[in-house]
Amino acid sequence: MKQTMGISSSDFDYIRQLIYTHSAVVLDSDKTYLAELYLQSIAESAKFTTISSLIAYLRNQPFNHLHTQTIEALVTNETSFFRDKAPFEALRKYVLPELMQRRRIERSLNIWCAACSNGQEPYSIAILIREHFPLLADWSIKIIASDFSSKVLNRARQGRYNQLEIRRGLSQQLQVKYFAPVDNEWQIHNKIRQMVEFQQINLIHSWSSLPSIDIIFLRNVLIYFDIPTKKALLGKAKQQLRLDGYLFLGSGETTFNLDESFERVQFEKSICYKLHGT
Ligand SMILES: C[S@@+](CC[C@H](N)C(=O)[O-])C[C@H]1O[C@@H](n2cnc3c(N)ncnc32)[C@H](O)[C@@H]1O
Repeated sequence: MKQTMGISSSDFDYIRQLIYTHSAVVLDSDKTYLAELYLQSIAESAKFTTISSLIAYLRNQPFNHLHTQTIEALVTNETSFFRDKAPFEALRKYVLPELMQRRRIERSLNIWCAACSNGQEPYSIAILIREHFPLLADWSIKIIASDFSSKVLNRARQGRYNQLEIRRGLSQQLQVKYFAPVDNEWQIHNKIRQMVEFQQINLIHSWSSLPSIDIIFLRNVLIYFDIPTKKALLGKAKQQLRLDGYLFLGSGETTFNLDESFERVQFEKSICYKLHGT
């Protein structure tokens, strides 16, 4: 008979601490049902009979692939192409034209998607540049996309999406222009894939592999962090951003009350941030 696969509160606390230590993500205390769902599937595929025997193992072993799998399963990686639309409109109509003017001598721009999940966000930026900025073809344009999770990075590097993912945010026209059907899925064209450089970066660790950045997309990840982590990351973003660069956050995120060196800039329906006095 199949055993009941519940999670005790002390086991749930252990999992929350594991996730917090390795990613700074705060797992809501009302997410036990989600934890049970994902841990059950990890326990089954690793041949543990219960969630508690899986957790007993995790507690007693040095950090290994099962710890990684557990953390990656419970951290949200919800994303979509051109998510929220407005930031991409702001990029197209205001931010890129302004920065192209400012960088017209050096002819180079660095854009960073700091928590890129399965890749839809950096590929949306790459597609937008291809579609609307032919002048940038002979500039040095770096689109760096990073995440702490190798699971999502592997998928992002592949650039292959199922029917559901491809429909979320992409017009039919962009789909057929930039993707090829392969085995019921859609493979992004190499010319777009090659525009994006993927790196594994845990935001709570060093960012030293990055150059100075003109545009940072740090979207829909701060919401999972506590206030000290949000403040620390905004402080690091400030150091990483060129003085006249732009920071984009998710629609439910802000620098307000966290880091007063940023000022809010509104472009139509999109809010983004610049360093004060620039
Ligand atoms: C909800 S997704 C957001 C994806 C994309 N930026 C968007 O807005 O659609 C959050 C991503 O943050 C990543 N993440 C969580 N903690 C992280 C950390 N400490 N360092 C780097 N990435 C992290 C997760 O792996 C996940 O892919």
